[in-house]
Amino acid sequence: MRRVLLAAPLAVAFFASPSPAAAQPWVVAPASDGAETISQLFWFTLVLATIVFVLIEGLLIYSSLRFRRRAPLPFHEPPQMHGNTRLEVMWATVPALILVGLFGITVSRMGDLSQLPTDPSTLHIGVTGRQFQWDFAYGTSGVKSTNDLHIPVGTPLIFDVTSIDVIHSFWVPDLYGKIDANPGRINHITFKATQPGTYRGVCAELCGPGHAGMQFRVEAVSLTDFQQWLEQQQPGASAALAAPPVGAPAPGAVAKPGAPAAAPGGNAGAGAALMAQKGCGGCHTVPGVPGATGSVGPNLAGVASRTRIAGGVVANNGPDDLKKWIMNPSALKPGTAMPTLGLSDDEATTIVAFLETLK
Ligand code: CUA
Repeated sequence: MRRVLLAAPLAVAFFASPSPAAAQPWVVAPASDGAETISQLFWFTLVLATIVFVLIEGLLIYSSLRFRRRAPLPFHEPPQMHGNTRLEVMWATVPALILVGLFGITVSRMGDLSQLPTDPSTLHIGVTGRQFQWDFAYGTSGVKSTNDLHIPVGTPLIFDVTSIDVIHSFWVPDLYGKIDANPGRINHITFKATQPGTYRGVCAELCGPGHAGMQFRVEAVSLTDFQQWLEQQQPGASAALAAPPVGAPAPGAVAKPGAPAAAPGGNAGAGAALMAQKGCGGCHTVPGVPGATGSVGPNLAGVASRTRIAGGVVANNGPDDLKKWIMNPSALKPGTAMPTLGLSDDEATTIVAFLETLK
């Protein structure tokens, strides 16, 4: 009964809210097969609870009005009743049957949801939570991204979810339910996105002071677009500034500052060379920067299209904020692992010009 009472205001809120817009973070705007199943279960339960609620409250109101004491009449006690076996059996049995039914449907749907696809086109995506960001790794491609998850629509996906520190919870409401990211353990979820779009993902487990900022974005695009993106992000790929394929430095090589190889990208190319020189690649993987394959810090592929960086302290990522951040990280985020490199204003501008090409 208490649950029913709680469901009622929720029901009102849902019915009163405008039709689910794109990327609305509700299970009621499902954009994958898994979310569709969860959503059906949600609506089924809600409708059932609403029927029970209306019935019980209706009877209560009806009885209160119908059998109320009418003022002018002198008081006399109405006939007293004790026990009604038939009624009591009924109100114990009917809710029990409803709950058993709900339980059965839920368990069977959970079974469907946890069925891992065997389709050879299935893409495995590694998801690693850490305080306070999400790292994603795409199959065997070697491509990684941070806080930006790219997925193809229509391809079965398996997410291998883990953590390197504390317990987090990976949640994209429009695409699936929550799954814990536990250190030392890999949890799997699977779904197939059915609608292209941008979806909001969050960490749904209180994991420390940066928990609220541990958000990420999901870009669901066509398979062709996804593959194109994947190619662009290959660690050896030349990224957006199109370093010359011929004579490009081998992975692991350190570009010399001002080396001609960087010239075609202009200021951006100089920024890439500068990053190599400053050793950014020791911690970060950076497409277009030779030898930058570090994994201590966030992968910088696509950093320019992130809405927030540095675990959320830089909330409106743009060239100016990015520059402030790289020039003096600990001023913005005390205790950050990102070192202050003592970049000059010009150096920072040059590096940001390059970072802005990483979309
Ligand atoms: Cu990670 Cu909350």
